[in-house]
Amino acid sequence: MTHGLRMPPDVMRELAKHVTEILVERRRGLPADRAWDGEFKQDLAERLMEDPPEAGRPPREVIDRAVRDVLSPAMRLDHPRAFGFIPSEPTWPGVLADYLATGFNVNAATWLTASGSSQLETVVIDWFRRWLGYPDTAGGVMTSGGSAAALDAFVAAREAAGHPAQATVYMGDQCHSAQARAARIIGIRPDRVRVLPTGPDFRVDPGVLASAVAADRAAGCTPIAVCADAGSTSTGAVDPLDAIADYCAAEGIWLHVDAAHGGFAALTEPGARLLRGIERADSIGMDPHKWLFQPYEAGCLLVKDVRTLERAFAIHHDVLQDSVWGANHPNQTDRGLQLSRRDRALKIWMSVQIFGVAAFRAAVAEGIELAERAARHVADSPVLELMTPASLGIVCFRVNPDGGALDDGALHQLNRKVLARVFWEERAFMSSTLLRRKFALRMCVINHSTTWDDVRETLETIERLGRNALAGRAAS
Ligand SMILES: Cc1ncc(COP(=O)(O)O)c(C=O)c1O
Repeated sequence: MTHGLRMPPDVMRELAKHVTEILVERRRGLPADRAWDGEFKQDLAERLMEDPPEAGRPPREVIDRAVRDVLSPAMRLDHPRAFGFIPSEPTWPGVLADYLATGFNVNAATWLTASGSSQLETVVIDWFRRWLGYPDTAGGVMTSGGSAAALDAFVAAREAAGHPAQATVYMGDQCHSAQARAARIIGIRPDRVRVLPTGPDFRVDPGVLASAVAADRAAGCTPIAVCADAGSTSTGAVDPLDAIADYCAAEGIWLHVDAAHGGFAALTEPGARLLRGIERADSIGMDPHKWLFQPYEAGCLLVKDVRTLERAFAIHHDVLQDSVWGANHPNQTDRGLQLSRRDRALKIWMSVQIFGVAAFRAAVAEGIELAERAARHVADSPVLELMTPASLGIVCFRVNPDGGALDDGALHQLNRKVLARVFWEERAFMSSTLLRRKFALRMCVINHSTTWDDVRETLETIERLGRNALAGRAAS
């Protein structure tokens, strides 16, 4: 062997210890650090754009460079003050499980290649099934995330509908763009992805859905799927799942629920109340890499009747004939897009085994409560205006002092300025959205290390920045 791609055990161990030390120290120091870091393209290109070295470099030097130039200029999604987009704070057992699974290089495509991981995926999916109150005919597949879950769901829906030529798909205007993209990828023409105007509460009105479907049927189209939101990314709003399920059942249309953000709220009593009706969907996408505190990539698609997935995806291939092995085993590759696939269940299983479900339930409940407390703070503030009630850990608001002398255009500029100051100068990270074209600051509070002080101090910072921006406006 002359190629030199192996390392002696003591070097392997020493490097792994070095990486562990880096990760543990990073975690320890994170709260005192900023929640965001980034570099402009030109600076990073100068540092990283080079020919690969012909001869290897010292491993510690390479690792330290990766940490400095690659991994550090990034949003720290696991920071206690990461409130932008959908943050993500993986548990340490989840991180270790990914390391373990990568080290074992398991390919969870088939039972033959990975029977333990295949069984564990079935176990974890069965946990999710029970948490959602889904029937025991249900099953599913772990995916890279909510986008892939939607893609697989729409393929199953299309096949269940007999692959009609003029297929249409329906979703509210608060649905994540990942859903519309998934519909396009499976071949639904963009003008047949119907984006329905939601009501004042940002939820789909089943009457609007029914009118759109009726018009399409009259025009010769075949509705193949409705995608309902179980926690929209902008506001956390949940579509009326029971009413939409009634409608879809009566019309024979596949109901997919995008619970990528909100699904794990089902672990809590208030969350379960909000998500009532989800158990009637034909399919549900949910992301453990969001509110189940797992490292990327951990998504999941559950379908009410697992055979609908297998009918859509299983294809016999001679070269894989040996993977039908023993009796009664699923091959997870028959349930979705991927053949080669990493083990995505181990991190969930190890985290839940080590901490217990109660700890996850409490952490999710805390996110819900902190967002509600944030909404109360905003409602009491003379500087801030609450734009949507807290829902599933998300609250939207803007700087708009009492009296409301500024119009929406001026408030847009003002709030953008405040957000930019938070972004560049403060320890917290927030992002924004548009609510009926009104600019809104958006706080998503789902990280398990976030405390009320993190939330309160961030809101107070925004109040201070808002007052300063107003004073600057008045002076100019
Ligand atoms: C509600 C919702 N659905 C779907 C997605 C897409 O999921 P993923 O990024 O895991 O593909 C997101 C991402 O934030 C989301 O918030």
